[in-house]
Amino acid sequence: MPWPPPDALHDFLRSRRSIRRFLPEPVPEGVLSRLLETAIYAPSAHNLQPWRFAVVRTDEAKGRLADALTAQMRRDMAARGEPEEAIAAREARSRRRIAEAPIIVMLSLDTSVHRDPNDPREPHMLVQSMGIVGLQILLAAHAEGLGGVWVCWPLYAQEATREALDLPPTWAPQGMLFLGYPAEAPAPPPRRPWRELTLWR
Ligand SMILES: Cc1cc2nc3c(=O)[nH]c(=O)nc-3n(C[C@H](O)[C@H](O)[C@H](O)COP(=O)(O)O)c2cc1C
Repeated sequence: MPWPPPDALHDFLRSRRSIRRFLPEPVPEGVLSRLLETAIYAPSAHNLQPWRFAVVRTDEAKGRLADALTAQMRRDMAARGEPEEAIAAREARSRRRIAEAPIIVMLSLDTSVHRDPNDPREPHMLVQSMGIVGLQILLAAHAEGLGGVWVCWPLYAQEATREALDLPPTWAPQGMLFLGYPAEAPAPPPRRPWRELTLWR
């Protein structure tokens, strides 16, 4: 019998949801360590393991991150000519989401990592590896009874994010995972049937 039992594993994989509202309960450090230990078993192109993690847990660090991300959000929305009320509402919502996330794991790609820097496909492989490590963390979190969501805002403000969290200069933030004990149980967003997405040859 394969381990874990396939039915149980498929149910587990399908039951992961993006969780955006959290209970105000802390995530124990031991649990976080386990998530990151499991994260590093993710596959990566050429086994380059380009991922780097910053665990954001203090109000002070979250505040600096919120300042950096919302400043960029403001600039982008203003440049698109969006009204001040819409900008202010979005800023307040984003600040609240950051403040209320018990833990934020900032996922960065270490741009100094290469096998062949002249290979134009290499950047794609490295970014693909980042997506996989993010899912590995989300699934490990799900196994611990935690909820999480990938949030892409840092991609819009990579430099500011790096400065706000005092990350090394070669770290390029790709996204952040909000993690915590879930305060919601959303229904699965609709999926396109896999048969419509698949060709057999
Ligand atoms: C690369 C990536 C970026 C995402 N960015 C955001 C985001 O910025 N904000 C957000 O609330 N959810 C974000 N999500 C979560 C998706 O909205 C979510 O995965 C999708 O709606 C399917 O829902 P499910 O994860 O519950 O199956 C992102 C997911 C991925 C994989």
